[in-house]
Amino acid sequence: MNTKDQLLSVISETCDTSIDKVTVVGAGDVGTACIFTLLSQGVSSNVTIIDVNENKMMGELLDFQHGSLFFNGKVTGCKGNDYSATAGSKVCVITAGARQKTGESRLDLVQKNTEILKGIVPNLVKYSPDTIIIVVSNPCDILAYVTWKLSGLPKNRIIGSGTNLDTSRFRFYIAEKMKVAPESAHAWIIGEHGDTSVAVWSGVSVAGVRLRDLNPAMGTDNDPENWKEIHNKVIRSAYEVIELKGSTSWAIGLSVANITRSILKNSNKIHAISTNIKGMCGIEQEVFLSLPCVLGRNGIIAIIDPHLVEAERCSLKFSAAKMMEVANGIKF
Ligand code: NAI
Ligand code: LAC
Repeated sequence: MNTKDQLLSVISETCDTSIDKVTVVGAGDVGTACIFTLLSQGVSSNVTIIDVNENKMMGELLDFQHGSLFFNGKVTGCKGNDYSATAGSKVCVITAGARQKTGESRLDLVQKNTEILKGIVPNLVKYSPDTIIIVVSNPCDILAYVTWKLSGLPKNRIIGSGTNLDTSRFRFYIAEKMKVAPESAHAWIIGEHGDTSVAVWSGVSVAGVRLRDLNPAMGTDNDPENWKEIHNKVIRSAYEVIELKGSTSWAIGLSVANITRSILKNSNKIHAISTNIKGMCGIEQEVFLSLPCVLGRNGIIAIIDPHLVEAERCSLKFSAAKMMEVANGIKF
């Protein structure tokens, strides 16, 4: 009798661990930040890593496995294009693809990353037909639309990480100016995750007080306090970090884990994420942009109409037109 059998008298089967299984496609700076946060915050106890660069996948897999003592869960990996290990994933996070270099915008990546998605999305759906897909690769709004088309899944199960990250940046800078904690500075960025994002100044509040009631010019060009600069800092954020360290990773990793937790825990929490907003806020195009959405185990439970003021509705329509212009140029 071997050592294990001498010690353990097994009396029941070990449980299925796929109840919160998450697959992360792409083991780069963003993918590994997502994995680290998912595991260290206990969002998932079962993560599978895929990357076309097999050494990179294996290296990250071993590195995470060596830390298993410090989190509750298991990490597995897929060799090359063998997606069978992803089977039964409740959530699939796509971070694979090219990232913008200094001087490039997110939109410059669209064709290259569309081609990459063509080889990923059908495989994810083949092994996890009930999964919810979170698209992080940029431009994430347009690639969420592409993923929706490629997957054949209902729109509640395709989520772009969208402006959940931009909203975090926005709340950080507002909190810094107001000298309160970010979770006490209530504010939303909607629209494109990128250069045409929309700051919903009409909805910014602290302790239930709308800041526009204290400063009606907030967010406009004739505001003596120049609050509008905070939105400009949000738009510049990625370019600034990429210039300094080559890529952004930790904030998006935290943002993706924040979204994934609301799905797996069925929390009905509201996040600014990218979805098909046709018919909302006067948008008539079939376009993916971020609006506040209620998230639960079925993915998007509801899309919220933020009751924008006219200037915000115009900015959102501009964002939509920009996305359509780029999406119409994609060679599927
Ligand atoms: P990275 O270059 O560090 O990692 C990308 C990984 O994808 C590489 O390891 C590569 O081998 C892998 N990959 C490429 N093609 C693949 C395929 N067909 N299947 C599986 N793996 C594949 O890039 P990084 O910094 O991780 O960025 C990844 C993406 O995330 C970029 O598009 C970037 O713009 C985007 N991003 C999005 C953010 C958001 O808020 N939505 C924030 C930060 C980055
Ligand atoms: C960001 C870019 C890279 O960090 O999408 O916002």
